[in-house]
Amino acid sequence: MSRSLISAGSIIKTFENLKVLNGTNFSLLEGEFVAVTGKSGVGKSTLLGVLGALDPTFEGELLINGVNAVEASSSELAELRREFLGFIFQDFHLLPNLNALDNVLLPAVFSGTDTEAVKDDAATIISRLGLRNDSTPTRFLSRGERQRVASARALVNNPRVLMADEPTASLDEESEENLFDLLDTLRKERGFAIVAVLHSKRILSRADRVLELREGVLHEKHA
Ligand SMILES: Nc1ncnc2c1ncn2[C@@H]1O[C@H](COP(=O)(O)OP(=O)(O)O)[C@@H](O)[C@H]1O
Ligand SMILES: [Mg+2]
Repeated sequence: MSRSLISAGSIIKTFENLKVLNGTNFSLLEGEFVAVTGKSGVGKSTLLGVLGALDPTFEGELLINGVNAVEASSSELAELRREFLGFIFQDFHLLPNLNALDNVLLPAVFSGTDTEAVKDDAATIISRLGLRNDSTPTRFLSRGERQRVASARALVNNPRVLMADEPTASLDEESEENLFDLLDTLRKERGFAIVAVLHSKRILSRADRVLELREGVLHEKHA
């Protein structure tokens, strides 16, 4: 049996009087690629925020790497995010004046783990993702390139889970497929799992499981 990386039970999340998540369950096993889909505004980003220990204001059960996230302190949650999870956000959250390598190394600098080995690995991931690790500030890069910088940054701490919220939104189909080819290759080499909010049918068809969020609950979709 594969180990469970994230396990969530009966998650309820409310904004004032809007119940976005209404008792949903979720589990993620080692190395899996799980896609989450659903209409705009249905709560996909909210769900990723809960599963990624970014938002502690929910009801229900949540285990991340065996740690009870409901009872964990904010510093324990920060450690999980730093060491166990990697995030690619919808709008990337890059620092526009820093180049690719400096953006990618930023989390390691913050956590004091920017060793030579980590720097070498960052340069490796950057080149594997087809980026030049040069001095160009990321504000001059194309959307597709910035997207790859964000992906490299999410992977530099060697997370066990990569979480991505519509990472390929507004990329053309070819860039989208290229990115997922690279992420899938890296996933198989490094053994991390992926939870990604996605819409493209071509990418969804590569996932091990596709879950649709509807009326606050995840439903397994059958191909
Ligand atoms: N911080 C917030 N305060 C109030 N309402 C919010 C907040 N964040 C999201 N919502 C609402 O929750 C619902 C789900 O949002 P979201 O998770 O972003 O949906 P999705 O990612 O599926 O498009 C939306 O109706 C949105 O307006
Ligand atoms: Mg969203």
